[in-house]
Amino acid sequence: MAATISLPDPAQALSAGIRIERTAPPCTVVIFGGSGDLNRRKLLPALYSLAQAQRLAPAFAVVGVSSTAWNDSQFVDEMRAGLRDLSGINPDDAVWNAFAARFHYCSGDMKDPGLYQKLAAQLRELAPHTGGNVLFYLATPPSLFAVIAGQLGRAGLNRPQEGASPSAWTRIIVEKPFGRDLASARVLNQGLHEVFAEEQIFRIDHYLGKETVRNILVFRFANGVFEPIWNRRYIDHVQITVAESLGVEQRGGYYEEAGALRDMIQNHLMQVLTVIAMEAPSRFEAEPVRDEKTKVMNAVRSLFDPRQGDAALQKVAVRGQYGPGFIHGAPVAGYRQEPDVAADSNRETFAALKLGIESWRWAGVPFYLRSGKRMPRRVSEAAIQFKSPPVWMFRHTEAAIEPNVLAMRIQPDEGISLRFEAKVPGTDMRLRSVHMDFNYGSSFGEPQPEAYETLLLDAMVGDSMLFTRWDMVETAWALTTPLLEAWEGQRAPDFPNYAAGSWGPAAADEFLAADGRQWRRP
Ligand code: BG6
Repeated sequence: MAATISLPDPAQALSAGIRIERTAPPCTVVIFGGSGDLNRRKLLPALYSLAQAQRLAPAFAVVGVSSTAWNDSQFVDEMRAGLRDLSGINPDDAVWNAFAARFHYCSGDMKDPGLYQKLAAQLRELAPHTGGNVLFYLATPPSLFAVIAGQLGRAGLNRPQEGASPSAWTRIIVEKPFGRDLASARVLNQGLHEVFAEEQIFRIDHYLGKETVRNILVFRFANGVFEPIWNRRYIDHVQITVAESLGVEQRGGYYEEAGALRDMIQNHLMQVLTVIAMEAPSRFEAEPVRDEKTKVMNAVRSLFDPRQGDAALQKVAVRGQYGPGFIHGAPVAGYRQEPDVAADSNRETFAALKLGIESWRWAGVPFYLRSGKRMPRRVSEAAIQFKSPPVWMFRHTEAAIEPNVLAMRIQPDEGISLRFEAKVPGTDMRLRSVHMDFNYGSSFGEPQPEAYETLLLDAMVGDSMLFTRWDMVETAWALTTPLLEAWEGQRAPDFPNYAAGSWGPAAADEFLAADGRQWRRP
């Protein structure tokens, strides 16, 4: 049986065949947006789960920073209520009490230098315990990202404080969205780089922290059997789908500025694409992995040429907006009826596009990406559709010819399945598609950590593999910005153009049908 041990050096541990359980070094996590929704829903629950799993150092502290006028004990009470009401965790009293004893709260205006002086004093007080290691988390509205970074720089908080150990570090996690187009992302990045070095910046994309997305790397690079067929010779096309049955809920204001292309495709789906399409890295370490992802991102070609006008655009990208409809049998409002949404909104809640990758591996293999709100069900997957056999010899059977598909289910019902044709038992020759299935739940039985749990631990440990590097983000914006501009400059389409609870606008089906293909209905 493998021993379980905490080791600082993963390479040493791997060669010794030991299971690695990583623990965070002593540090303070400073959460800007401490009273906000993201902290209550995701960050605090993730930190609590890490505390429960004994992954945090005993010398650990949380400082919540926000404009809400709370004191330390109100912060503790609010966080506990959030844990119970929003994440469904019923905290164990002993674990919670030890965890919450390390909470501090700083309230003030994020634009006020006085707030950062207060924070500096707090961090100096904690430094003798935490070694002076600090992880800032920007969980505020994006308009404050550069403001906060600038203020941190002016207060000297971008580097370890007095009393910190000589090896102390300072890092910053930046939530999405990282800009709203290429130009604004560059401005934001420049603002961050004036204060923090690239190695200190951890741009989060929570899709990269999902177990099933991380497993795509293992599936591809820990198995020999798939590599020889993972290319244009055997693969017909790839479909990446992130469908949600939820609408925009209370985020109409944000969504009016964002839309599906910015909110999901530019980041989450593009990241999944890189994991599917990248070459094997020379080592399983942050920089070699991110280098390969960046290389493939650089080879992605938008098939949209702005000079060719609207007709060309429709062949490579489709947008939609949901109208009223039914989800799981219950009536729901259309997007334009949602709170904080304009009655004549032109914002897309569904986007689908076709991309190509100019590399020897992928030349000629289209990648179709789609994401939408108010689809019939919540499902995210990457499906690799293989080419059909060169000769179909079962002409005289009643078989519908189904190509082989390898579907990687990101959520829910996490797993991988391979569809292939089989003979139906009997004296006649009849064929039917069957599935070979791997299911996380039944194979491992262990609950999967939330993406934020993995990513927070990674940032504390200093592993940036699952965070997006600037060159990658810049390329993703360079690809999507012309399309955003074309859509935003176009006459309002006939919105709404799909009913809530359907798989998107008819144009999305026509768009694939024009290539002789069809969307999966996962
Ligand atoms: C967020 C988007 O990044 O991802 C949301 O802003 C979306 O609009 C969410 O609902 C989806 O994440 P998940 O993990 O629920 O698939």
